[in-house]
Amino acid sequence: MQRYISHFDGIDGLKKEDVPVPSPRQGEVLVQVRTISLNYRDLEVINGKYDHHRAIRQVPNIVPCSDMCGVVQRVGKNVTKWAVGDRVVSLYVPDPKTGQLTERALATSLGLPQHGVLGTHRVFAEDALVKAPEHMSDEEACTLPITSVTAWMAINGTRPLGENGGRGDIAGLQIAKASGAKVIITSSCDKKRAMAKDLGADFGINYRRIPEWANKVMEVTDGHGADIILETGGSQTLSQSFACAAYGGLINCIGYTSGKTQASGEQKNVNLLTIRCNLTLKGFINGPTDRFEELINFGKKHEIHPVICKVFSFNQARDAFRYLESGSHFGKIVIRA
Ligand SMILES: NC(=O)c1ccc[n+]([C@@H]2O[C@H](COP(=O)([O-])OP(=O)(O)OC[C@H]3O[C@@H](n4cnc5c(N)ncnc54)[C@H](OP(=O)(O)O)[C@@H]3O)[C@@H](O)[C@H]2O)c1
Repeated sequence: MQRYISHFDGIDGLKKEDVPVPSPRQGEVLVQVRTISLNYRDLEVINGKYDHHRAIRQVPNIVPCSDMCGVVQRVGKNVTKWAVGDRVVSLYVPDPKTGQLTERALATSLGLPQHGVLGTHRVFAEDALVKAPEHMSDEEACTLPITSVTAWMAINGTRPLGENGGRGDIAGLQIAKASGAKVIITSSCDKKRAMAKDLGADFGINYRRIPEWANKVMEVTDGHGADIILETGGSQTLSQSFACAAYGGLINCIGYTSGKTQASGEQKNVNLLTIRCNLTLKGFINGPTDRFEELINFGKKHEIHPVICKVFSFNQARDAFRYLESGSHFGKIVIRA
């Protein structure tokens, strides 16, 4: 079989090598790879720049890429899920099977730190594959693991889709349209915007011609803003995303095509810091009546009493404010009227 190896020294450094076809062990299958799709991540890996995840070490001589579609060629002992001839798609991160990705699970990522799929054959654990959708060609199916799963999670993972969709990539556009959203995409390329419109995008904004494109998003959503934003730009785009997010909206930090650091310095951008830990950074402002009542019941059940630091008389109102200003309180300052 043949495969490519990267030494993290760029595209020119990719070396093709001939190696024996591996044999599947117990619980494993040998897949003949048919198609591989590329992601920005793969480019970063081979350029030695994919270094922002704590759980992903740089390992020498890696087979890059994670997304493939192929056919099961041999099955190891005790394999129950697959038979020879089954058409399968890889999982970028084989674990966990449900919930959110954990940091530890990132160590199982294909294409770094685990060997990837840029070869003619690869052995997979039987549960590290999913069935390729029958309605898709091999070329289509291999694009699913990173781009489409990320878009799916960003649109459906943490909250349902509102009426106004958001900015995002192509897979996101297709999923959001099929979910009934109004979709706005940003691209500097006229041809890409036209193609996005053919796929159902309601608006395409040229962010080079309109650098303050958030205003345009507000305009075309009648001042509502985007309910869900697939933020793939990073340092150059996050402020615009904030400016056009709907009240109570969701900005999914996905990528950093416009750079990993703030223009001003070495500090990693907020976008990347959230991606690194699969983190939710949530703005907060109070809550509704039912949650208030829930809180009262919880306090009753657990006998929680608010901490009162000091009680001032009505005439001492100014002293109460001064005390607050001094910052020496622990608990609440109360004025008795
Ligand atoms: N976190 C994850 O799991 C995950 C998954 C998939 C991808 N990613 C990351 O997401 C990023 C994008 O990947 P992709 O495959 O979606 O790329 P893509 O298909 O090239 O889409 C990016 C879109 O953003 C637009 N854009 C670029 N710079 C912009 C700017 N300054 N202002 C507004 N819009 C801008 C692009 O416009 P143009 O047409 O002008 O280029 C393009 O329409 C990459 O960093 C990738 O590594 C992360």
